[in-house]
Amino acid sequence: MITQPLTVLDHHYQDLIDDGKDVINGLNKNPKTLSPKYFYDDPGSLLFEKICELPEYYPTRTEAWILNQYADEIAVITNCCELIELGSGSSTKTQALLDAYQKIADSCRYLPIDVSGGILKTSVLQLQEKYPDIAIHGLLGTYEQALVHLESNYLQSRMLFFLGSSLGNFNPEECDSFLNQVSRTLQPGDFFLLGIDLQKPKEILEPAYNDSQGVTAAFNLNMLSHLNWRFQGNFDINLFRHQAIYNQVDNQIEMYLHCQKSHLVSLEALDLKVSFEEGESILTEISRKFDLATMEKELQSKGLKTVKTWTDEKGWFGLILCQLK
Ligand code: AVJ
Repeated sequence: MITQPLTVLDHHYQDLIDDGKDVINGLNKNPKTLSPKYFYDDPGSLLFEKICELPEYYPTRTEAWILNQYADEIAVITNCCELIELGSGSSTKTQALLDAYQKIADSCRYLPIDVSGGILKTSVLQLQEKYPDIAIHGLLGTYEQALVHLESNYLQSRMLFFLGSSLGNFNPEECDSFLNQVSRTLQPGDFFLLGIDLQKPKEILEPAYNDSQGVTAAFNLNMLSHLNWRFQGNFDINLFRHQAIYNQVDNQIEMYLHCQKSHLVSLEALDLKVSFEEGESILTEISRKFDLATMEKELQSKGLKTVKTWTDEKGWFGLILCQLK
C-alpha cells in the first residue's frame, strides 16, 4: 500500500531542482549556456509532450515502436526487478514495459524520476490506478540527486532505464561521469536499458528540431520564462529567437536562443545582472546523435556488457540492454 506516492529529493535546497549556481556560471560564460534541465518546468514538460507528437519529431514514436515490439523479450531476459526510470516525464512509452513486467511477475516496483513535479505526480497517480499490482513511487529531483539517492538505497535487483536519447544532452565528459554514476547504482547482474537516437542525414534531423508549428521554438523560449519565475528574472522572450542546427562535425543538434537586440537582464534571486548583445546566442541544448557500436564499447568500458540491441526498420533509433559485470 502506497501512502506517499512522491518523494522530493534533496531537502537542503530551497528550490526543488537547483540553487541556480549553474545558471550564474552558464550566463557568465562566453558563449553563454544554460542547462537543458531548465526546459522542464510544468509548462515545459507539457510542451515536450506536444513535441513528441509532432510529425517531424520521429524519436519518440520510433522508440515507442521498438519498446512495443520487444518489451516482452526484455522482461523475460531481466526477469522481475526494480524498474527505475530517469527522466520519466509522462511515462507514456514506459507502459509497454509495465505491461510486459505485469505479465511475468506478480509484484514489481517502478520508480519514475523527474524534475517536473506536476507531470510526475499526475502520471504516478494514473499509473497506480492502471497497474494495481505494481508499486509505484515517484522521486522528484535531478538525475544527480536521484543517482546519489539510489546508490545508498539499494533494495533488490534493478533495471535502470534512460529512454528518449536524453543521454544526448550530455557532452562526452558529462556522459562519461553519468555512466560512471549509473554503474555505481547497480550491482553485478543488474541491467541498464538505454535508448539513443542514431546518426542520420541533416535533412531529417533539422526539421525534427525546427517544426513547422513552432512547438520546439516555444519549448526553447519557455526556458527563459522558467528562469523568470524560478529566479525572479525579467527575460523578455520577444527579444530572443529559436534556432536549431545540426553540427556534422560533432554529430549533434545544437539549440540556441538568439538575441535580437542588445539589452540587460537581471535575475534577482541569483543577484545576477547579465548583458546581451544583438546577435549573441545562448546554447540551451545539445542533442547528440550516436553510433550503436561506439556506444556499446563505451558502455563496455564501464563494465556494462551488451546483452541485446534493437532498432527500428530504418535504423533511426537504438535500444541497448546491458548488464553490469
Ligand atoms: C528529451 C533530450 C531527448 O534532444 O531530442 C526535443 C529534447 N529538444 N526537441 C531531444 C528536445 C528539442 C529531446 N530529449
